[in-house]
Amino acid sequence: MSGNGSVIMSKILITGGAGFIGSTLANYYSKKYSIIVVDDLSMGNQENLINSEDITFIKGSVTDQNLMQRILSDNQFDYIFHLAAIASVADSVARPMETHKVNFESVLQLLELIRKYQMNLKRLVFSSSAAVYGDEPTLPKTEESIIRPLTPYAVDKFAAEKYVVNYCHLYKIPTSAVRFFNVYGPNQNPNSPYSGVISIIMDRYKKLLNNETTAFTVYGDGNQSRDFVYIEDVVKALDLVAKSSSSLGEVYNVGTGNAVSLNQLIIVLNRLLNKELSVAYQVEHSGDIAHSLADITKLKSIGYESSFDINSGIEKYVAYELE
Ligand code: NAD
Ligand code: UD1
Repeated sequence: MSGNGSVIMSKILITGGAGFIGSTLANYYSKKYSIIVVDDLSMGNQENLINSEDITFIKGSVTDQNLMQRILSDNQFDYIFHLAAIASVADSVARPMETHKVNFESVLQLLELIRKYQMNLKRLVFSSSAAVYGDEPTLPKTEESIIRPLTPYAVDKFAAEKYVVNYCHLYKIPTSAVRFFNVYGPNQNPNSPYSGVISIIMDRYKKLLNNETTAFTVYGDGNQSRDFVYIEDVVKALDLVAKSSSSLGEVYNVGTGNAVSLNQLIIVLNRLLNKELSVAYQVEHSGDIAHSLADITKLKSIGYESSFDINSGIEKYVAYELE
């Protein structure tokens, strides 16, 4: 409570907060917290954010040192979620210099600004990736599994994650990192060839349902598998990691503990939508990982319980998209 009796809301910064995961998190936190979102809208969309006086949107880049300095020196945050990134593995192979600036340099810069200005921060949560495990074949991946990053994206995520965790030990900055597996759900932008695969598949089904001619391109034989995790479970995990005391300085897998192949996924969707998606197979992307599967024992140890498996998650997503 403040002196005049009004409740002081905790303040949150979400970088990349107009994107898929960031906007869902911002919308979830609105009414409870005062939120600042910074996003350059390269992939995100301001319309992903609900209209709320609790959410302040700033259009700009996390690589803009002046802008970030202004935001961090003018506000005292309780929680910071650094989600801004060029999230595509394939894009990082095509444009390693550009993606490095966002995916690595912005993180180090943010850590330094926190060290200077954010004395009361309760937690910085950094979004790392399952991509750090690379193609080492042992599955499922625990947080202690061998790290073998294969692409600029994965190298940057791992390096950034190490800085984030080490800033906790070196400078007592309260940090945690999460390694998301493959997240899907509403507000994932399907409009780039580098978009998340489920959002692209869903876009093709919507075209099919509108009787448009369409095909989905699978890069590889379609037997590559992923641990697809529904966005609502991811938001739950982010909130838990940010607020748990045992997660300080720790890294957590965020997945379901089950994986499906792209071919299986298309079978599930064909059945659910009662349609036959036309599929074209092309050569696999270089640096692509064949199989990815999370062990989420560590996340469960801080109280996490998932609410969705692939069937219930896809059903909820389809219902939302067809609304
Ligand atoms: P997204 O592309 O929807 O969100 C990222 C947001 O960052 C976008 O809104 C984009 O416009 C913004 N952005 C990009 N460059 C920026 C810059 N220079 N300055 C400010 N904003 C910038 O992706 P997402 O799926 O919501 O991913 C969020 C985070 O989670 C990313 O760090 C991503 O690497 C990580 N991640 C995502 C997944 C997944 O499956 N979606 C898996 C592992 C890790
Ligand atoms: C995804 C995330 C990445 C995250 C990683 C963690 C995105 C864009 N990428 O990468 O941020 O760090 O999970 O596990 O959210 N594919 C096709 N056709 C398409 C698109 C993709 O066949 O049109 C294939 C890809 O070649 C790949 C698979 O589908 O084999 C998954 O691709 P994608 O959704 O980009 O995910 P990841 O590369 O796993």
